[in-house]
Amino acid sequence: MRRRHQVDKLIYDQIQEHRAHPDPSRTDILTLLMSARGEAGEAMTDVELRDELMTLLVAGHETTATALAWALYWIHKLPSVRQKLLQELNSLGDDPDPSAIFKLPYLNAVCCDLRIYPVGMLLLPRVVKAARTLMGYELAPGTVIVGSIYLTHRREDLYPEPEQFKPERFLERQFSPYEYLPFGGGSRRCIGLSFAQFEMKVVLAEMLSRFDLALADNREVKPVRRGLVSAPNGSVRMMVTGERLHSPTPQLTSSSV
Ligand code: HEM
Repeated sequence: MRRRHQVDKLIYDQIQEHRAHPDPSRTDILTLLMSARGEAGEAMTDVELRDELMTLLVAGHETTATALAWALYWIHKLPSVRQKLLQELNSLGDDPDPSAIFKLPYLNAVCCDLRIYPVGMLLLPRVVKAARTLMGYELAPGTVIVGSIYLTHRREDLYPEPEQFKPERFLERQFSPYEYLPFGGGSRRCIGLSFAQFEMKVVLAEMLSRFDLALADNREVKPVRRGLVSAPNGSVRMMVTGERLHSPTPQLTSSSV
């Protein structure tokens, strides 16, 4: 409760600061949320703004950031993956449209095979409403069940050599929502799915087109539980080894994701 109070204070201070100094030219997410209007022309209340920011911070930020860290790891761990990706990105020319980036098949396949270490290992819990039998188990009303994304993504019959990062598997066949579910499923599926996929692809395309990156060490990175998500054990340290286009941050020489 104390921590929640501290977080609330930080967020409400930001909201007050934005209200005190309105600047429509700003493009940060809070400014955009504050300028949004409902069907009757109404703006969001402070509590609604706080709730939206909490969703973005708690459900949206770490999940996507962690998936990006895994993507950078695999792309640079496996030179052939990086090469194919760069080839595909180059085909779009300079300054590509984000929607063209979003549709790139190999980039999409790379993001899909992050299946190997799903950021969310489990679905959110479901409660059985009416008695039923599932794969021989009698499920009484009130029983709480939690589906395992991790185990589904490790099924050999669906994903041959499940321990291998192989984007091609997503080019060779299509998976049903019961076979591939990094964002969960059904009516409570992740509300941020499209946003996260779009963000990841644009960020990866931008980073890979601007910088030559390399893993800072050869360590094998494995997933560990971190709060609600599973994440790399330690940071995935990267080095900038070269720069392709003019970058506004030339002083950047190394970073840790
Ligand atoms: C790579 C990024 C992300 C992954 C892997 C991910 C994964 C998941 C998973 C597995 C669930 C549980 C779904 C279920 O039980 O069926 C979930 C729920 C949710 N996610 Fe995400 N998520 C990501 C990004 C985001 C973003 C960017 C947002 C917000 C902008 C977000 C907001 C939510 C919310 C609000 C729920 C609860 C939905 C509900 O209960 O109706 N997530 N997410």
